[in-house]
Amino acid sequence: MDFKRPCIIDHMQFDSEVLRLTDDVTQQLNSKYGLQCSPNLAPLVFAIYNTSRSKFDIAQCGVYEGATLLGIAETCRFLGLDAHIYGFDSFDGFPKNIDCDYDKPMYFKTLMSEGKIDKAHYDQAFIRTSAFTNDSHLDKTYFSIDKEKLLQRVATYNNITLIDGDFDRTLSAFRESIDLLHLDCDLYMSYCTSLTNLYPLLSSQGRVVFDEYYSLKYPGAREAVNRFFKERSSEGVFLRFRHGDFERWLLKKH
Ligand SMILES: C[S@@+](CC[C@H](N)C(=O)[O-])C[C@H]1O[C@@H](n2cnc3c(N)ncnc32)[C@H](O)[C@@H]1O
Repeated sequence: MDFKRPCIIDHMQFDSEVLRLTDDVTQQLNSKYGLQCSPNLAPLVFAIYNTSRSKFDIAQCGVYEGATLLGIAETCRFLGLDAHIYGFDSFDGFPKNIDCDYDKPMYFKTLMSEGKIDKAHYDQAFIRTSAFTNDSHLDKTYFSIDKEKLLQRVATYNNITLIDGDFDRTLSAFRESIDLLHLDCDLYMSYCTSLTNLYPLLSSQGRVVFDEYYSLKYPGAREAVNRFFKERSSEGVFLRFRHGDFERWLLKKH
């Protein structure tokens, strides 16, 4: 897929059932765990709601405190769907401090000059990263968590497996077939490793949700997705969702 000329099928609005379910799950997470789900839950609810499969397995790369992981689990529970959910993370933040040029905020300038993002995206990223000078979100400790708390929350579900460690080690050992892949791992290399190892495990009509294709902090995710799908444009269609000011992207395999 050449994302300079994205194959956008639709500037999609979520239908009312998906929005209602997203709201219900969001409220549930808030009242049960005090977790705030960002708008990134809606495309996942859309993918889960619209499946015709009776068994639906899901992998998430980037769990952090578990807001969307538990949102996915609650959505499947609401729908009575037989699903298993695999959550991959170091559960200790990024494996190392990040020093990859694609991940530095300055890389938004390159994306803009190569026509890979639009002016609105560039301007928002400029503001969000204090004129591309703030890169505190690349620090190893940026996503440190209280792992015990996450384990307690996850223990109340019998269909979640957490897989702990650097993706370089954990993803190549994974062999299960999956129907939905949620990428929420920010970094160029983390996206590359996730796609290389897990995309081949996606079922024939599988879905991939890219949390950071329109990131205002992490330009490397967009670069990784563009490169990975450059030679695979015939394998599916890319749907662009707008929720508020923010875009989320979903690949729907044929
Ligand atoms: C944006 S957070 C995930 C947010 C989460 N999905 C939520 O709902 O709040 C990104 C996560 O990816 C993890 N991560 C990124 N690269 C990784 C890698 N190479 N190996 C293991 N974990 C990684 C970080 O530890 C962090 O917890």
